[in-house]
Amino acid sequence: MSDRPHPYVPAAGGMAAVKVTPPPGGRLIDLSLNESSYGASPRAIAAAQARCASPERYPDPASTALREALGRVHDLDPARIVCGNGSEDLLDVIGRIYARPSDEILFTEHGFAQFRLIATRLGATPVTAPERKMTADVDALLAAVTARTKILYLANPNNPTGTYLAAAELRRLHANLPPSVLLVIDSAYAEYVTADDYDSGLTLARERNAENIIVTHTFSKAFGLAAFRVGWAYAPSSATGPMHLVRAIGNVNAIAQAAALAALDDPDFTLEIRDRTARERGRMTAALSAIGVAVPDAVTNFLLARFADAAAAREHLARDGIVTRPVADHGLPAYLRLTIGLPEENDAVIASLRNFMA
Ligand SMILES: Cc1ncc(COP(=O)(O)O)c(C=O)c1O
Repeated sequence: MSDRPHPYVPAAGGMAAVKVTPPPGGRLIDLSLNESSYGASPRAIAAAQARCASPERYPDPASTALREALGRVHDLDPARIVCGNGSEDLLDVIGRIYARPSDEILFTEHGFAQFRLIATRLGATPVTAPERKMTADVDALLAAVTARTKILYLANPNNPTGTYLAAAELRRLHANLPPSVLLVIDSAYAEYVTADDYDSGLTLARERNAENIIVTHTFSKAFGLAAFRVGWAYAPSSATGPMHLVRAIGNVNAIAQAAALAALDDPDFTLEIRDRTARERGRMTAALSAIGVAVPDAVTNFLLARFADAAAAREHLARDGIVTRPVADHGLPAYLRLTIGLPEENDAVIASLRNFMA
């Protein structure tokens, strides 16, 4: 199978290997995976620890309490929510239900890497539509739809570009899609976005009540629960049955369910993370721009930095103990993706890049 993509590799290892040297007495700063640098709610951690006291008990296979809490928080019917082992699990389950080898799966030029992986795994044809200013372009997406298009995956905001499609454009995209095309809106970074014209997809899904919209969310990013693997999807009733059938029965373990439930109960924590991330993102953008590193606008907990020689910049950062993510595999060879770190981690990045640029 020569056309198989490389398996996923963390940025510091595998095909993307670069030697990272933690500074003497210092620690490695891993900014390669878009994790939250600000931890998780103490309530979520306490709930997870408490559930560890009874490991002999199976988790609720239907994640009932979590779905009901999500329904309350987002004003959604819990019967239309499906939880997963991270949102990547659900994106994959959706692909397996809807797409066959003769189908096309559509996403944007620099779309989230998993979309291509899903298509390839299923033997379906991945099709990309050009972006405009590194942002999804509705007209280009609509022009790329054919009679074979089964799923359009849209990460909003997108990884690795960090950009988002405004609510009105999302509405226009859905309004002009044939009903036979399933629009999957992956809102993994939704909690970071403060723009008034942003919709994670839930408003559209509620408004249209359409058979062809599924919205996915995750607890891995702003909630800081990446290790536990919890995601959820809001889907039409016609899709939830197949999704429950295809997903593994115990796809969300009991510790993860407990942690996610408690995290939902601590909205102030998540808002604070959002605000701290935005402050540091603004500071990083300004500081890097000032030393000649272009940083396109991002609304996420990561940003892209443009270099004349991105590989050399990455090696320089690695020698200072800083791990970044090359994004040449997303068609962006001039860029590195950096997670927004703690203030002192961001200071280290700025200092390292100041030396590099000099
Ligand atoms: C756009 C996007 N969607 C989905 C995911 C998957 O998140 P998880 O499986 O941890 O919920 C990621 C992770 O980086 C992502 O960047």
